[in-house]
Amino acid sequence: RKNVGILAMDIYFPPTCVRQEELEAYDGASKGKYTIGLGQDCMAFCTELEDVISMSLTVVTSLLEKYQIDPSSIGRLEVGSETVIDKSKSIKTWLMQIFEEYGNSDIEGVDSTNACYGGTAALLNCVNWVESNSWDGRYGLVVCTDSAVYAEGPARPTGGAAAIAMLIGPNAPISFESKLRGTHMAHVYDFYKPNLASEYPVVDGKLSQTCYLMALDSCYRLLCNKYEGLKGEQFSIFDADYFVFHSPYNKLVQKSFARLYYNDFLRNCSCVEKDAREKLAPYSSLSSEESYRSRDLEKASQQVAKHSYDKKVQPSTLLPKQVGNMYTASLYAAFASLIHDKHKTLDGQRVVMFSYGSGLTSTMFSLKLNEGQHPFSLSNIADVMNMSEKLSKRHVFSPEKFVENMKIMEHRYGAKDFVNSDNTSLLSAGTFYLTHVDSMYRRYYLKK
Ligand code: ACO
Repeated sequence: RKNVGILAMDIYFPPTCVRQEELEAYDGASKGKYTIGLGQDCMAFCTELEDVISMSLTVVTSLLEKYQIDPSSIGRLEVGSETVIDKSKSIKTWLMQIFEEYGNSDIEGVDSTNACYGGTAALLNCVNWVESNSWDGRYGLVVCTDSAVYAEGPARPTGGAAAIAMLIGPNAPISFESKLRGTHMAHVYDFYKPNLASEYPVVDGKLSQTCYLMALDSCYRLLCNKYEGLKGEQFSIFDADYFVFHSPYNKLVQKSFARLYYNDFLRNCSCVEKDAREKLAPYSSLSSEESYRSRDLEKASQQVAKHSYDKKVQPSTLLPKQVGNMYTASLYAAFASLIHDKHKTLDGQRVVMFSYGSGLTSTMFSLKLNEGQHPFSLSNIADVMNMSEKLSKRHVFSPEKFVENMKIMEHRYGAKDFVNSDNTSLLSAGTFYLTHVDSMYRRYYLKK
């Protein structure tokens, strides 16, 4: 089996959003904190009509239709999500409605959960299945779906919502370099959801930032070692054309790429130029603890990495900046942004991906791209995702209306016996929405 990987993709995000510039003013934060400080433009959110189940129904139906995939040709379906609607019944089982209609109930896989990492776990499972002896020749399908919401306070502007579907199989335009992977997992309380009555996480923001960067360092070191073992040459950021990061907010992505640059400097990579080496020299003997705390190092490394950031990272930042943190979908929405922007020139290129889920779990892995053949081609994926149009058709809510919506959603979370408004005017045709929840907590959806 050659070139196992992603054959097709589609993305859905709610048509409702709030502008970060307006939100920071409303929250009484200093001007520029959310837009420049966090690097965010807009944040998407679900109204009462949508949730992680409806979004995944929407995106899976859309992918099957747009690439004309026969639902009975799916042999494995895995969902990554950290939004708990039911502690037992997986989101995957709701999606089975789509396949039952075609007589296909022979589909392996359930949900994977660990913060923003579940999507990556689902993806690796599906790729491993296609590469294994258990593969029956059918497609795998991976769905990442999340609604990221935070209580009022500094974390609130780092929410977002989206669902992504990815079709998995051999001869893919986006294939895994399966030997090039590094994983780092550990026990930490940086972000977790122990209060089952609330959708909001408990979060230690500062700790989560440091954990993210420590996991990044560790995964990068492993990936470099594996590359060197396989190819007999040193790996540096110049050996990949693009780096795509899990994106809670853009500033952390800028810091992450700078951190990789600093790693290359510490590893004496010949590609780090003299000028950059001089600027980073004062930080060469910091302990790793000190290096995570040093604001001067952060600034210096961002400065020397800026030029490469613009080339290797910036093209993947559109959706994460416009939609916000999409948890499990965040990394793949960033990757989708890269395809949207650069699909004409990605043939033969290497993309390194970094997935992080608090708690913590993380993997860095490498993808090799080729143009592929219609309908499984990079240009068709860009066409199907139709990102510019989806972004331009959004409805901007005022911060007041956004906060009002959040209050309604707090009451709806875990509730039973309610009927939603039937005003679906903001949703586009083909979107699934929640109509009501009955006295047995059973949820009912319709397609617009
Ligand atoms: N103009 C420009 N920049 C500003 C301004 C301003 N007026 N005010 C503040 N800033 C900058 C700050 O300097 C800082 O940038 P820096 O880190 O480069 O110095 C940035 O804006 C953020 O300001 P902080 O004071 O650090 O923000 P705060 O601590 O209030 O909240 C945080 C940020 C911790 C990320 C919070 O939003 C949070 O907890 N989010 C959820 C956790 C999270 O996303 N963690 C990431 C990994 S885990 C995951 O994916 C869930």
